[in-house]
Amino acid sequence: MAYNNPFTLDFGAKPNLYVSRNEERNKILNTFLAEMPSTHIFILMGARGTGKTVLMTEVAHDIRDHKGWHHVDLGTDGDMLNALAGYLYKKYQMLDPKIKLDVSLKGIGISVEKGSKYSDIHADLDEIINGFKKKGIKILVTVDEVSNSPSVRAFMSYFQHCIREEMDIFVIGTGLYKNVRALQNNKTMTFLKRAPKIMIGALNLMRISRYYQEVFDIDYDKASVLARLTDGYSYAFQTLGYILCDKGKKEADEDVLTEYMVNLSECSYDKIWEELSGEERRVVMAVADSEPVTAVNEIRNKLEMDSNSFSTYKDTLIKSGILSDRSSRGYVSFSLPFFREFVIQQYTE
Ligand SMILES: Nc1ncnc2c1ncn2[C@@H]1O[C@H](COP(=O)(O)OP(=O)(O)OP(=O)(O)O)[C@@H](O)[C@H]1O
Ligand SMILES: [Mg+2]
Repeated sequence: MAYNNPFTLDFGAKPNLYVSRNEERNKILNTFLAEMPSTHIFILMGARGTGKTVLMTEVAHDIRDHKGWHHVDLGTDGDMLNALAGYLYKKYQMLDPKIKLDVSLKGIGISVEKGSKYSDIHADLDEIINGFKKKGIKILVTVDEVSNSPSVRAFMSYFQHCIREEMDIFVIGTGLYKNVRALQNNKTMTFLKRAPKIMIGALNLMRISRYYQEVFDIDYDKASVLARLTDGYSYAFQTLGYILCDKGKKEADEDVLTEYMVNLSECSYDKIWEELSGEERRVVMAVADSEPVTAVNEIRNKLEMDSNSFSTYKDTLIKSGILSDRSSRGYVSFSLPFFREFVIQQYTE
């Protein structure tokens, strides 16, 4: 493209046009930076594309700018403890190359070089993290997309040990509701049920309108018509802006709306749909088939589902950020823009 588009379609990276989430950000910052932190872990949850990774990264960068913090971002596919040990070991050596580490610690050096697993990794990590603590350094670990995998479980069970031993290690994780639920349902992971969760919801529509007003040089009313098309969904805010810019338009006509919906489907909703179970899809379809804001009783009757299973599915869909019951009690609607149209398309195709 010949000109600069200020919007981004990338996932994960902090966008140019960023709507701050001060409440969530300050909650984590104030807690972790406190002298006596009330928790050492936060888990950010929300539907795909709501901005979990972006927020986690922003907060981590804020924290690591403070004196006395090291930040390590751990991927979830490899051996997370080995990766953590390797990283901290190097940092520790940089801090004081003359420091003599215990024999066992050399094992990490070796295991890092050979890329093999090192059996006594817990003891080694304890030693390094406590060594940092003596020097007044705290460790922040970020883990994007936690799930119920052996590597995440191994990491979390080590983290739980650290908390018991009052070590200075902090965790920010992100995850889809169902993945977090599967993880914390393990017998040894129940401590995660008490870990504070932050639900990443819609962005402020006024802030979105202001950005659209500025970028497209239009009046506020027109900008807020555009903003309402996004329902505050982060990815939609970027996508709609991107398409308008790309086409050199200031209004969402048929052409723009079609491309907008295709993009939402292909880059986000298809994946969200795939991750739903058969019964969850039935519930979602029944909601799509009703008025935009519908009484839950009506939907349940339509599905002929008993109230227990219905409320379980409804609850899961709300916690997954797909349905919302916030507008009024006993009613549900979709949280994501044009998701209803997307669902209707799924069963008319
Ligand atoms: N606060 C924000 N203001 C503006 N745009 C945002 C904000 N947060 C995220 N975005 C945009 O939304 C999109 C999705 O963000 P992000 O990758 O953080 O979502 P996610 O919740 O991690 O999604 P996934 O579950 O698929 O990993 C990106 O295009 C990003 O630029
Ligand atoms: Mg993400």
